[in-house]
This record gives sequence, structure tokens and C-alpha cells, in this order.
Amino acid sequence: MIQPSTAPARPRVLSGVQPTGALHLGNWLGAIRNWVDLQDSHETFFCVVDLHAITVPHDPKRLAEDTLTTAALYLACGIDPQRATVFAQSQVSAHSELCWLLNCVTPLNWLERMIQFKEKALKQGDNVSVGLLDYPVLMAADILLYDADLVPVGEDQKQHLELARDIAQQRVNARYAPDPEHPILKVPEPLILREGARVMSLIDGSAKMSKSDPNEGSRITLLDPPEVITRKIKRAKTDPVMGLEFGNPERPEADNLLGLYALVSGLGREQAAAACASMGWGAFKPLLAEATVEALRPLQQRYGELRSDPATLEAVLRDGRERASAVAGVTLQRVRRALGFLALN
Ligand code: TYM
Repeated sequence: MIQPSTAPARPRVLSGVQPTGALHLGNWLGAIRNWVDLQDSHETFFCVVDLHAITVPHDPKRLAEDTLTTAALYLACGIDPQRATVFAQSQVSAHSELCWLLNCVTPLNWLERMIQFKEKALKQGDNVSVGLLDYPVLMAADILLYDADLVPVGEDQKQHLELARDIAQQRVNARYAPDPEHPILKVPEPLILREGARVMSLIDGSAKMSKSDPNEGSRITLLDPPEVITRKIKRAKTDPVMGLEFGNPERPEADNLLGLYALVSGLGREQAAAACASMGWGAFKPLLAEATVEALRPLQQRYGELRSDPATLEAVLRDGRERASAVAGVTLQRVRRALGFLALN
């Protein structure tokens, strides 16, 4: 049962990004940007989900460095370790342990119907690990350990959030909480903002911008230098129609790039749409490139400073590990008790 003494003073938020490859505009605009605004109103936990990163083949020589890089990007994007708890998932063993407990109450067919599993499994061919199938249960453990009220993510994570809610409600609370007034796990809500929730590929406006797309021209990473950003936008797919607009199903590229412009320029959708309504692609692309370069410039500068000081970064993660472990440990004990495990002092 959720004990009043451990109930947080402010509503809780948890989210994370995998340290696989370079983070891109979709990760920033769909997720991390929204985390920044929640730091004052909520108690926030942001983890680098390195255990998720090994659900597909990975390079052990890069994992630790990529974990630090991702943490540095969180801070460069405006996450303040004084206000938020920033940590690496694998440093808090409660994540793996709760994942196991939840595995044993989660029906296999719930996992087999996850869209991301089906998509990723298709790409892996014969090489699909149990971990890839189990990915959403680990994600549920991440969220449920912190009694999170809100989980800010991009649109692609909606199904995983629903799964986490179902596991908490139907498979743990309904089965193991004797009193429905006192649930064992908090049922979280997704926070998916309309703007930026689904940033599309630069070379195909109907496909999501993704770290795993083999074509690097499909995405702008947060650390791309200005000339690379300009080149990728120059080569981005267009259509033969004059003028940028939102919401035309025949023109997914126009919708996507105008949406990016609205966000990176700070103009917002209405003003951006008005400014670009009669603009040709030839005039629009340099505008978008410049606004993107300018939006990323301060972030890249902060990143450079943070990344050149790994000792400070590691201290942030050590402190985060301590704070996260304290909260996660309480939830884990609650679940262990509810499932009937022996408790020894
Ligand atoms: P990852 O690393 O794939 O994505 C991190 C975040 O970026 C969002 N995102 C996008 N948003 C808009 N447009 C895009 N093209 C785009 N691509 C990615 C994702 O929705 C996500 O919010 N499974 C999670 C990681 C995770 C997690 C968690 C998240 C593990 N445990 C607990 C929240 C809570 C994921 O998608 O990672």
C-alpha cells in the first residue's frame, strides 16, 4: 500500500531516453524539452535508460560513454540537477528487480502485440532477444518504482504507457491489494503534447525520425554542427507545391518541416504558418536551417562545457543514484511484501 509517509509533496514525473546513438530533434522536441518545464511544479526523475539500450545488439566499448553523453545532453537541454534527480537506470538495481516481479504477472500476449516490438523484431531477423520483448515491462518498472503521476514522452510511447497502466492496475493492484482504496502501485498518466510529439524523418514525412534509421540524412542530431544541419535540411524531401501549410494529408513533408520551424523558431504554429503560407521551398529551407542552428547553439555550447568535465557529470549521477535508490527501494519493498516474499531483517 502507498504509505502516507512516503507520498511525495509534489506530483511526480519520471522519464528517460536510451543512450543509443546520438539524440535527435525528435527526442528533444517530443520529450526532453517538456521535462524542463516540469521541474518547478513537480518532483522530477530523469534516467538514462542504459538497460534498455542492450535490448538490441550494442557495443560494450561505447555504452558507458554514451550514458555520460546522454546525461550531459539532459543538462545541456536545461535539466537542473539541483531540482531534478538525474541518474543512470542500471545504477539502481530496483529497476531490474521490479522488472522481474512484473514479468511474472504480465501476460505474454500483452507484449507480443506491442507495435515497437513487432517493428524492431522485424529488423533483428533471427537475432531477437527476450530482452527486446520484455522492454516495455522494464519501462513499466522504471515508471512504477517512482509512483510517477505523469510520464512526458513522444507519441510513439503511448502504447507502452498503456501497458504500464494495465500492469499496475489489473495485474498488481487488482490482484494483490486487499483494499482497493489503498493500491500498491500508482497508475501513471502519459503527458504527450501535441506539438513535437511526432517529429518525422527528413527524407520521408510519413516515417518517424529515429535513431535507428540507417540513413543519417533522415535526422538532425542535437550535436550536428551548423554546416551538417544546413546540408541535411537542404537535402530534405519536398513536394512540388508552393507555400508551407499544416494538416494537408497529401503533404506530410510540409507539415513536418513547418512544425519543426514553429518549434525551433519559437514562433508557434499560427505565426509560423502565416509567415510561410506563400513561401517557396527555396526560401523556406535556409530559414529553417538558420532557426535550427540558432536553437541548438546554446545547447551545444553547454554540452561542450559539461562533457569536458566528466568528474562533475559523474558526481551528478552518483547523487542521482542515491536519491533515486531511496525512493525506488520503498516501492520495491511494498511490492515484495504484497507478493508475499519472506522479509528478513
Ligand atoms: P527513446 O530513446 O526511443 O526515445 C526517447 C524519447 O523521445 C521520444 N521520441 C520522439 N518524439 C517525437 N518525435 C520522434 N520522432 C521521437 N522519437 C523518439 C520518445 O517518445 C521518448 O519519449 N522507451 C523509451 C525510453 C524509456 C522511458 C522509460 C520513457 C524507458 N523507460 C520510462 C519514459 C518512462 C523510449 O522511447 O526511448
